[in-house]
Amino acid sequence: MKKVLSLLTVSAMAVSMVTGCGSSSTPATTAAPATTAAAAETTAAPAATAETTAAAAATATTSTDLSDKKVGVCIYQFSDNFMTLFRNELQNYLVSLGFKAENISIVDGANDQATQTNQIQNFITSGVDVLIINPVNSSSAATITDMVQAANIPLVYINREPNADEEKRWEDNNWNVTYVGCDARQSGTMQGQIIADLPDKGDINGDGQVSYIMIEGDPENVDAQYRTEFSIKALEDAGIKVNKLDDQVGNWDQAQAQSLVANALAQHGKDIEVVFCNNDAMALGALQAIEAAGETVGKDVYLLGVDALQEACENVKNGKQTGTVFNDHISQSHSAADAAVNYITGAGNDHYIGCDYVKVTTENVDDVLNALK
Ligand code: GAL
Repeated sequence: MKKVLSLLTVSAMAVSMVTGCGSSSTPATTAAPATTAAAAETTAAPAATAETTAAAAATATTSTDLSDKKVGVCIYQFSDNFMTLFRNELQNYLVSLGFKAENISIVDGANDQATQTNQIQNFITSGVDVLIINPVNSSSAATITDMVQAANIPLVYINREPNADEEKRWEDNNWNVTYVGCDARQSGTMQGQIIADLPDKGDINGDGQVSYIMIEGDPENVDAQYRTEFSIKALEDAGIKVNKLDDQVGNWDQAQAQSLVANALAQHGKDIEVVFCNNDAMALGALQAIEAAGETVGKDVYLLGVDALQEACENVKNGKQTGTVFNDHISQSHSAADAAVNYITGAGNDHYIGCDYVKVTTENVDDVLNALK
């Protein structure tokens, strides 16, 4: 794992100041948006900080035997590509910290909050030592927190950030509840910057504006909201005129995105200069539609995603996707596991644990692909 992380550090440091991931007491909801070029150039050094957190956790585990501790993990939906990477890494890292595999239970919420709420209730009844929850609906966080708090079990939210009011309750009540994740504004900003940095700044047809379509993730999810908003804001901040041709919800899903982009291409054809997708799974679907329409990425249209799925990175390398943004599932899953350990040992955590995204283009995609191996 060290190799993975240090490779990414090298590529990130080549273009950026180092900020790193780790604890911060400032929630993303109130953090300064990464809207300016300078702010967004502040890309990540996942390695340095993941190593630091791993080291900190290792120190904690030397004094606490984790082999009999039970962890309950709720994932909003197993079929989500990114959350699959996340949960596999989480499982492996928890084992490396000293938890027994049979004491780690990871369940599929099947994108249904009622199902997930039952799963949480079952974990409470069976008596886990800590819960790690990727909520189906972020808006259900207050109810979830209340249930888990009443049972006196520490709680680590991941990936889908509860709102600022909910996070304030954890702080005000000094509860053992935290959130681990990235600030989605940064990923949107980076998508926009990848376009703004192209020689034609996304204006393929030279009409003085960038005509785009947006394919959104689950609209209840703050990641979808911020990526939609901040990708376009980054273009505008770079002085680029934009023209929205279509904005549709693809729910993070490849097949839905394929059909939405096919429809948009049938309607707008080569007027579409940029296809912004809130994640890579949808960018893969968009690429299928673009190729089926006989268009070529890089020549007729630009295509952006987020996550740095391996397949999307291969497409970036081969020119079939203009760029993506690495959503660091390694650092996030490790920070979540470390936070769980910190609750078990009594060390405690801040109520917000952040992580940086990394821009991925042809320039650094080889480093990222090597790192993800
Ligand atoms: C995002 C990720 C998406 C999807 C979503 C689920 O951070 O980019 O691909 O996994 O989380 O909440």
